[in-house]
Amino acid sequence: MSTNTVDNARKVTTMRLREMKERGEKIAMLTAYDYSLARLVDEAGIDVILVGDSASNVMIGNPTTLPITLDQMIYHAKCVTNAAQRALVVCDMPFGSYQGNSKEALHSAIRIMKESGAEAVKIEGGEQIRESIERILCAGIPVMGHLGLTPQSINKFGTYAVRARGEAEAEQLLRDALMLEEIGCFSLVLEKIPAALAARVASEVSIPVIGIGAGSGVDGQVLVLQDMLGITKGFSPKFLRRYADLSTTINTAIGSYIDDVKNVTFPSAEEQY
Ligand code: KIV
Repeated sequence: MSTNTVDNARKVTTMRLREMKERGEKIAMLTAYDYSLARLVDEAGIDVILVGDSASNVMIGNPTTLPITLDQMIYHAKCVTNAAQRALVVCDMPFGSYQGNSKEALHSAIRIMKESGAEAVKIEGGEQIRESIERILCAGIPVMGHLGLTPQSINKFGTYAVRARGEAEAEQLLRDALMLEEIGCFSLVLEKIPAALAARVASEVSIPVIGIGAGSGVDGQVLVLQDMLGITKGFSPKFLRRYADLSTTINTAIGSYIDDVKNVTFPSAEEQY
């Protein structure tokens, strides 16, 4: 359990996140994709669990987030909602599930909510997908926006480099953020943009802004769980702080198990019937 002073027993809601922003209390968000780790994350007192489409990379081993399907996202989100007692669970809408038309977007969002029990959806993009977001919001489904580096557009960007360094893209991002707030999104993720721009967005909108590679001037932070626990390897962007080295811990434990099996020191007399 973390040492923060937050009321750890109370269920986190979209309204509560807004109150946290108003109080200046930072929001801690992490991804999770399965029951066992989601339970640990929830018990540790995280505010929001994101069932990110990063599951495509982390859980399935795809090189991008594009291949993961709506069915797969629903599966992962269901695993997480089975575990989460306190955290707000937000599920990413995967590539191809909302860009076609707004009715398809609504249908996808309803499937996520009905079949997984997630409490909100997250969608990448601004003005171009306004109609889809509005239709989802009209159905009473809370929406978290996502601007800046939007990995589902990797084939358009051609790189995972920092976004919105130039004035035109920065101004567009600010307009998109204001639009997302105006139409009723409850929160917004800003990924890999200059810290000064992210801080400006967070000060200009009243909804909580959660950053990843967006500096400290926002209302909260999100990291991919496997990255911050040191399970994934070969991915070391500047913004990633590793809080553990679980790949070494797991490797050592499995190595010891293999040795014990080979040397017949496992199971011992006490470990058998
Ligand atoms: O899919 C994901 O994990 C995300 C976070 C990086 C914000 O969208």
